[in-house]
Amino acid sequence: MDKLLLIDDEADVQYSFHRIFNSPEIELTTASSGEEGLKLIPKIKPDLVIMDVRMGGLSGLETLRRLRQSDAKLPVLLMTAYGTTQTAIEAMKLGAYDYLLKPFDVPKLKQIVASALEAARAMRQVVSYQPLLESDDYEVGIVGRSEGMQNVFKLIGQLASSDATALITGESGTGKELVARAVYHHSKRSDQPFIAINCAAIPENLLESELFGHEKGAFTGATNQRIGKFEQCNRGTIFLDEIGDMSLSTQTKILRVLQSGTFERVGGNQPVQVDVRVIAATNKPLEQAVAAREFREDLFYRLNVVRIQIPPLRERREDIRLLINYFLRKLAQSQNQAPKSIAPEVTAALEQFHWPGNVRELENVIRRAIVVAKGEVILLGDTPPEIIAAGSSGASSPVALGSSEKAPENEDGADLASLAKALFRWARQDRKLKIIPAVERELIIQALAETKGNQVQAAKLLGITRATLRKRVEKFDIKQELSIR
Ligand SMILES: Nc1ncnc2c1ncn2[C@@H]1O[C@H](COP(=O)(O)OP(=O)(O)OP(=O)(O)O)[C@@H](O)[C@H]1O
Ligand SMILES: [Mg+2]
Repeated sequence: MDKLLLIDDEADVQYSFHRIFNSPEIELTTASSGEEGLKLIPKIKPDLVIMDVRMGGLSGLETLRRLRQSDAKLPVLLMTAYGTTQTAIEAMKLGAYDYLLKPFDVPKLKQIVASALEAARAMRQVVSYQPLLESDDYEVGIVGRSEGMQNVFKLIGQLASSDATALITGESGTGKELVARAVYHHSKRSDQPFIAINCAAIPENLLESELFGHEKGAFTGATNQRIGKFEQCNRGTIFLDEIGDMSLSTQTKILRVLQSGTFERVGGNQPVQVDVRVIAATNKPLEQAVAAREFREDLFYRLNVVRIQIPPLRERREDIRLLINYFLRKLAQSQNQAPKSIAPEVTAALEQFHWPGNVRELENVIRRAIVVAKGEVILLGDTPPEIIAAGSSGASSPVALGSSEKAPENEDGADLASLAKALFRWARQDRKLKIIPAVERELIIQALAETKGNQVQAAKLLGITRATLRKRVEKFDIKQELSIR
């Protein structure tokens, strides 16, 4: 459950918040003044504070200033009426998470609250990098006993006492974000904020302003000054995820911040000084990007001082068994269920598979198998066909094609023809099985699992309309409550 504290002296606002956040997952407490709010915080330990800027008694800004003396991390959302945005900007400099203009629209409010809670969680949950598998505390840990992962742990340990920039590399799903959070949690800055920015998810022309802020009038649409993440996260840690996708001009600014701790807001000429630790990650080979002049060489060397390279899962198969047990327990715990067990041939097949999507893919396979398994034991049939094929062929990579039957290959080397062959091998286990509907059903379950039950996205993934998807869900009796959340 997430705890929200609303500090606002208007009864109306308190009332609407109670209505908007009337949910079993949220516990809302209200305070009518800054003073009262500050007293409540150590008692209720909220995950997020939302407060009005203008209140009788202590102002929102002063309340935030006092709060920051004892807690640098607690996310705070400020609400401000039109005309008081300057105060909101001051609040951002004090490390407020964001501000909302009143009157606010409810979907936007909910969305900001959700993302602030997510950020709070990332800051709060300590990622331990040598979790005791015997203990019951399974919440967040980096599991692995392979030599490759031991090296990763060693580097996290070495980084703990320094403020050095770190570059984390590895294929998609290898745990780069998890490692970044572990570095943060074990650093001297763990009592200061941590902000993660996915550089690939923000349009190129907006990223620079997101990171460094802008001055009023800097570009069309810049109607107000804006404080960027580097200023907001002063003294904290910034995680620049997918840094390989950053434009050259933003790279230049990042290099300058790393070298001198200064930058200018977009459209501004006043240097701003900050003290921020940068952790970067990418799944792109930066060396190649440097050679192609898409990534600045000097920035690459500056980032590469400490490099944490996470090996792909297929190069550390000894970790697979540990990860399976970890996910079985973690997922069971999150749903308040007893962990299911897993048949030995399933473990063997999972150990054989080549895992193009690495640990994330393994986690998804286990999550789905828990849902699909009818009894207490996960069987081979509860896993996707390519895993079954890996188990039965003993091959650790997809079946190679004869030269005459070239079908388009995807980047993992899998192709439709070899997948079809694997499916036939799987289908032969059950004479009554009708392969086309079985595959169709499976694709739908998988698409829904991968999109967390989002039917629009799942339909897109499947290349069918949403209406068709709905019909299929009904036809195949895919239990809504199990796979569609
Ligand atoms: N060693 C590990 N132990 C436990 N869980 C792990 C491990 N590695 C990855 N995970 C889990 O796998 C999922 C993917 O990890 P994460 O998001 O850190 O990967 P990533 O390398 O950042 O992927 P991407 O390149 O796709 O962004 C997460 O749910 C994470 O908790
Ligand atoms: Mg990531």
